[in-house]
Amino acid sequence: MQLAPAPSAARQSLQQRRSLPEGASGLLAFDPRCTHAKCAYEWTDKSKFACLCHEGFFGVDGAVISGPPPRALDRFAVRETNGKVELEVPADFSTPRPKA
Ligand code: FES
Repeated sequence: MQLAPAPSAARQSLQQRRSLPEGASGLLAFDPRCTHAKCAYEWTDKSKFACLCHEGFFGVDGAVISGPPPRALDRFAVRETNGKVELEVPADFSTPRPKA
């Protein structure tokens, strides 16, 4: 699971584009499966996520930077309650394919 603090610029951008309410936790949770062929991706050089299966790259807000992914990283709803972080994971969730 990729869980990262959302930089304020990314949060503001997402809120404007998707009308998302800002969570009190300020966290974003991305599905660990690339939106191209569901491979695992990783955080690189503190500026982007890289999926090395087919060289897909995503920004800190999950938007596609380059490569074959057809859309931004999918997100899981995040709630923080009493100091615990909860993710809402889809019922059909499966682990990502191993990196190429
Ligand atoms: S599975 Fe990620 S770029 Fe193809």
